[in-house]
Amino acid sequence: MSDPTATTIGILGAGKVGTGVARQAIKAGYRVLIAASGDPKKIDLIVSVMAPGAIAVSAQDAMELSDLVVLSVPLHKFRTLDPAALAGKHVLDTMNYWRDTNGDMPELAEARSSSEMVLAHLPQARLAKSLNHIGYHELELDAREAGAADRRALAVASDDAETRALVLDFVEHLGFDAVDAGPLAQGAAFEPDTPIFTGSYNEARLQGELLAHAAAAQAELSPTH
Ligand SMILES: NC(=O)c1ccc[n+]([C@@H]2O[C@H](COP(=O)([O-])OP(=O)(O)OC[C@H]3O[C@@H](n4cnc5c(N)ncnc54)[C@H](OP(=O)(O)O)[C@@H]3O)[C@@H](O)[C@H]2O)c1
Repeated sequence: MSDPTATTIGILGAGKVGTGVARQAIKAGYRVLIAASGDPKKIDLIVSVMAPGAIAVSAQDAMELSDLVVLSVPLHKFRTLDPAALAGKHVLDTMNYWRDTNGDMPELAEARSSSEMVLAHLPQARLAKSLNHIGYHELELDAREAGAADRRALAVASDDAETRALVLDFVEHLGFDAVDAGPLAQGAAFEPDTPIFTGSYNEARLQGELLAHAAAAQAELSPTH
C-alpha cells in the first residue's frame, strides 16, 4: 500500500473508540495525538496503556497540529467542539446517536444524518463520516492486510472530495476496504439500526447495501403515487 496521505492524526476523545483508533493508527505508522476534554496529564496513563506511542495532548493541540481530526466524543457533547479550531480542517466524525446515552436531541430532526447536525455546528470543517459502524474492539479484531479474502469493508461519506479521499486512505491504512458512500447525507445508510450498522460486510456487499439505501431514499422523495 502507498504511504498514508495524512501523517498526523489528532483524536478528540480518549475513550473506547478514541484509544482504539489511536492503537490502529500507530500500528499503521501515523503520528497520533489524542485528547480528552481536560488536562492531558489526566490521560497520560490510559493512553500509555491503551495506545502506546500515541501522545496525550490538549484538545486545542490535537486540532491544531494534525492533518486529520477524528471526533470520538459522546454525540451530546458535540457543542463542546470548537468551530474556530476546526475551521478548514479535515475532520472525521465517528459519532452515533443513542437516546439512552445522549438524551433527546431535537436538532437531529433537521438532519438526515447526525453528521449533518455536527456539520451545522462546525460549518467550516471539512467533514466526513466513517468508523461509526464498527465496534471499538473490532477495529483491531477485523483489521486485515489489503487483499485478504476476509477483509471487512467500511463506508465513508463526505461532501468534500479531498476529505473523502483522505479518509478513504486512512480507513484503508487502518486495515479495511474503504468504500465511497457519496455525500455526507448518505451517512444515514450506516447509522444505528441500519443493516450496514448492525452487520459486517465485504466491499461488494457493502456497495450493494449503500445502493439499496440510496434507492429507498430516492423512492421516498419521489413516490409514484
Ligand atoms: N463504543 C463503540 O464501540 C463505538 C463504535 C463506533 C462509534 N462510537 C461512537 O464514538 C463516540 C465515542 O464513544 P466511546 O465509546 O469511545 O465513548 P467514551 O468511552 O465515553 O469516551 C468519550 C471520550 O470523549 C472525551 N470528550 C468529551 N468531550 C470532549 C471534548 N470536547 N474534547 C475532547 N474529548 C472529549 C471524554 O473525555 P472526558 O472524560 O475528559 O470528558 C472521553 O475521553 C460516541 O459518539 C459513540 O457513539 C462508539
